Amino acid sequence: MASLTIRKLDDAVKTYLRLRSARNRRSVEEEVRVILRELIEGREEPLTPFSAPPAPSTAPTPQRTGALPEASVTLIIGGGIAAYKSLDLIRRLKERRVEVRCVLTKAAQQFVTPLAVSALSHERVYTDLFDPQSEFDAGHIRLARDCDLIVVAPATADLMAKMANGHADDLASAILLATNRKILLAPAMNPLMWNNAATRRNLAQLQRDGVVLIGPNSGEMAEAGEAGVGRMSEAIEIANAAERLLRPPVPRPLAGKRVLITAGPTHEPIDPVRYIANRSSGKQGFAIAAAAQAAGAEVILVSGPVDLDDPAGVTVKHVESARQMLEQVQTALPADIAIFAAAVADWRVANEGEQKLKKTEVGMPPLQLVENPDILATISKLTDKRPPLVIGFAAETEHLIDNAKTKLARKGCDWIVANDVSPATGVMGGDRNTVHLISRNGGEIAVDSWPVMTKEQVAIELVARIARSVTDKSLEPAS
Ligand code: CTP
Repeated sequence: MASLTIRKLDDAVKTYLRLRSARNRRSVEEEVRVILRELIEGREEPLTPFSAPPAPSTAPTPQRTGALPEASVTLIIGGGIAAYKSLDLIRRLKERRVEVRCVLTKAAQQFVTPLAVSALSHERVYTDLFDPQSEFDAGHIRLARDCDLIVVAPATADLMAKMANGHADDLASAILLATNRKILLAPAMNPLMWNNAATRRNLAQLQRDGVVLIGPNSGEMAEAGEAGVGRMSEAIEIANAAERLLRPPVPRPLAGKRVLITAGPTHEPIDPVRYIANRSSGKQGFAIAAAAQAAGAEVILVSGPVDLDDPAGVTVKHVESARQMLEQVQTALPADIAIFAAAVADWRVANEGEQKLKKTEVGMPPLQLVENPDILATISKLTDKRPPLVIGFAAETEHLIDNAKTKLARKGCDWIVANDVSPATGVMGGDRNTVHLISRNGGEIAVDSWPVMTKEQVAIELVARIARSVTDKSLEPAS
């Protein structure tokens, strides 16, 4: 198959490629590959990028969201026996869908070959600062900046010294000096070199410069009989550290908050085999628990019998009856926020049969009902352990807003999420919900009607409101 030398293309084509690749933040070779792929797939871009490209920004590239599928790493492999682990590191990064472009120092090529590195990375390997083919395109600058992270593994004592002192006499050190990306160093050297005063000074300087370190670990050295701190971290450890740096920080507005949630129906026994229940699926409460957990809260979910998996990272207490639910809620206090999404049975059978009730000639057994404790009202009215924000739900089939406002006052909570549970809405057991958030703001009652959403969306929005209320005094419950 013919090979293509970009250097030999027409000037106009080269300019086009340069501008287009700069705009798309790709290397020229990658841009050519993209153009060819698009041509084959019949969706090439019009040839118009000769207009001025966006001015190169010195600001850091915005972090990519959901990051790893699109992330790219420039991996600098230094000259040490640990370089063999870098081959595994390439695989580990690629498993995480990270594009890896590798740079080998001269010394590294004594330990691993460019061919092996290229075969694993599926990319050309860079070795020379004065390579006309890549430097035509300011290659070291691209390698330094066309990536989300630079990983140096193994980072030898020599490479660290060069970095700390700003040398740029080979490709690796020039990239490290020219980059504005985060740098992750995986040092590997003999323990005496690691403990040498010069290395300690260089390390301290690099840490002041914001370089991130992984390892070194302690263990046996390649040199017979030597052991100590200086072994390069394992490939998986380095890949995990890279992944942490590549992933955009997840906002965790409820970090440090303890959130207590009730969900699902309760089952009130009639006898050992029968019970009174309702149609609640628990989906809304479970979705709120998952959203609060994702927002960084410590979540305790007290759930009646449901057919749902426990949300990851949430402490779930499974109960059957309203009285058990109340007991678990009281045990879980104190909490910063309590959300009562459970459809608690209002009544239970007073004369619960110890044995299965039998049909008799005298007719149906009389079922005496007594009222269950109101969990929401009980917790709202606590004087000592009342959570600062108490949120109830109002399941109504008529006069939704009026009934919900009355409930807010009667139960003493701060917010009520009102939803219409008439059979026609399909809310009970369904996946969607139309809710109205009714809140007390000082003496005022505010009603905020949300559009129809999935229960997950309702949960995310509710958690976002809660997060805002944590910082916004105006949303704090009236005292
Ligand atoms: N609730 C509770 N304990 C109960 C009954 C209800 O904690 N024994 C809570 C629910 O979890 C919900 C709120 O109170 O947050 C309102 O529940 P809902 O069923 O709408 O109202 P009820 O109090 O049962 O009143 P009604 O049946 O008259 O509408």
